[in-house]
Amino acid sequence: MKRGLDPKTGYARYALEYDDRERFWDSFEKDGVKPFLLESEGKKVLDAGAGTGRVSVKLCKAGAEVTALDISPDMLAVLERKQPEVETVLGDMLDMPFPDEQFDMVFSSMAMVHLKKNEVEPFLDECYRVLKDDGKLVLVNIHYRKPQVLNDGQGQYTIACYNHFPRHVRQTAEKLAFGVEHDEIITEGDDIWVSQVLVLKK
Ligand SMILES: C[S@@+](CC[C@H](N)C(=O)[O-])C[C@H]1O[C@@H](n2cnc3c(N)ncnc32)[C@H](O)[C@@H]1O
Repeated sequence: MKRGLDPKTGYARYALEYDDRERFWDSFEKDGVKPFLLESEGKKVLDAGAGTGRVSVKLCKAGAEVTALDISPDMLAVLERKQPEVETVLGDMLDMPFPDEQFDMVFSSMAMVHLKKNEVEPFLDECYRVLKDDGKLVLVNIHYRKPQVLNDGQGQYTIACYNHFPRHVRQTAEKLAFGVEHDEIITEGDDIWVSQVLVLKK
């Protein structure tokens, strides 16, 4: 088994199957993101770590003008077939290929889980840079509990994931001068946190 593949390598193998688990991915957010999707109407929005566009498609339906950034060309290829009006950009969330103050909103769902601890601050800093003044960042920080073992016929593999504790993410954002508009912890019956929906204002 290949363990802890980097996202570009891992998602090249997983891209065509990712959408089969859409309901599972949705379950991390429950309805936590819905009000912010509605707010995106008529806005210029970046979906950072967009993948196959699970969130980009919802943003499009809500009437946003969407740019989808991802490090995996294979994930973006799926998105391009599904929702051609989304502008796709291949690139790294840690070094976004955009000028300053381009977007009214940045969404990033379930992508930060692939960043190492020391990459959270540079990522939030990039989000801050590309947001317009008064812009909003909507983050879904998921709790990764055990490696998801995938199998594509070439064998088993996992993609590298890291947990970022909600308090730490919030404190890092505040250090960068973000204001906290909303900080919701989504839990399961056993009270274990499933995800954090953190909405930050520039
Ligand atoms: C679990 S998927 C989430 C996709 C989508 N946001 C969603 O909610 O369904 C994680 C995505 O983050 C992307 N990703 C991971 N690290 C990245 C980085 N440094 N820059 C850009 N994209 C990255 C992966 O390629 C993958 O498409």
